[in-house]
Amino acid sequence: MQSPEHKPVLGVETSCDETGVAIYDGSAGLRSNVLFSQVDTHRLYGGVVPELASRDHGTKLVPLVEQALGEAELTLADLGAIAYTGGPGLVGALMVGATFSCSLAYGLGIPAVAVHHMEGHLLAPMLEPEPPAFPFLALLVSGGHTQLVSVAGLGRYRTLGATLDDAAGEAFDKVAKLLGLSYPGGPEVARAAAAGNGESIRLPRPLLGPDSLDFSFSGLKTAVRLAAQAEAGDGGQLTAAQVADIAAAFQAAVVETLVTKCLRALDASGLKRLVVAGGVGANAMLRQQLAEAVGARGARVYYPRPVYCTDNAAMIAYAGWCRRVDARPAPADPMARPRWSLDELQPPGANTG
Ligand code: KG4
Ligand code: ZN
Repeated sequence: MQSPEHKPVLGVETSCDETGVAIYDGSAGLRSNVLFSQVDTHRLYGGVVPELASRDHGTKLVPLVEQALGEAELTLADLGAIAYTGGPGLVGALMVGATFSCSLAYGLGIPAVAVHHMEGHLLAPMLEPEPPAFPFLALLVSGGHTQLVSVAGLGRYRTLGATLDDAAGEAFDKVAKLLGLSYPGGPEVARAAAAGNGESIRLPRPLLGPDSLDFSFSGLKTAVRLAAQAEAGDGGQLTAAQVADIAAAFQAAVVETLVTKCLRALDASGLKRLVVAGGVGANAMLRQQLAEAVGARGARVYYPRPVYCTDNAAMIAYAGWCRRVDARPAPADPMARPRWSLDELQPPGANTG
């Protein structure tokens, strides 16, 4: 029989609109990873409706746990701990995952551990065949976050820059809405942009001065709205070609801004490895331009595959495996923290008395 600290960890992700369950252990790696995406529900409203997200997590968690166990050919008795997303995220959605996970752990008599959602994102490339070594720089670009983080090791994070207003993914979602495209906006804008000419409309690159590592995307969103109004003219209606051109110009502005800030942060920190994670990290243009620009500096970029870029439980199960020494007998005060800075984290085991 496996000793408890070597038994698989069940990961549960419910921070926003994806319900995910995965199983990880150190010898077999990722044993299963299942996801129920709620996008069809939220698309009807043009964005995430928190109340509906919480309800959907509640109905999907049990079947997903059964599916994840089935695919891994394991039973509940084989699990050593449960890792769940403790924050940041939508409070109701987090509470569903946290109470479910702690109750299940209590019933099984195994410990539970709360994982920081963004730590999950930045560790996601560790699931790939060629994981980055520490230290590295991480660009975390999702619907709720845009930040550059210096990663010295597990739990040793220092934020170098962050968005002052909208996150990059949020800007993609808002611009999509403005252009009459569907939700979630990132993939839709990218698809429209593929048919457009990004140079036909010049949009600002919000760099915030020569040394800043912070981001600001709300002005760019306003510039897109003004460009859309000007293009639409008196008729007020954009043609498909105009939508494509504006989408391409917007995507080019966001990508150029993100690339510039990454290069600045690499130069300032002297780091030679860059990890890009979070939903916007699935953007093909960003991946290609970063690879070229960072490669030209003698540094290397590491991406999780696109399904590990957007929200998933594989990254939570992996982070939970790394933090299993921090797991506590459940119910250990189910954690649901909508706001939680990465810089507060400690290395695994640091808080063990
Ligand atoms: O990491 P994620 O799945 O959830 C959060 O933690 O926020 O990121 C979702 C965000 C959404 O804003 C979505 O529009 C964006 O990632 N996104 C993309 C692409 N795929 C997803 N943005 C640009 N290009 C994409 N291909
Ligand atoms: Zn996320």
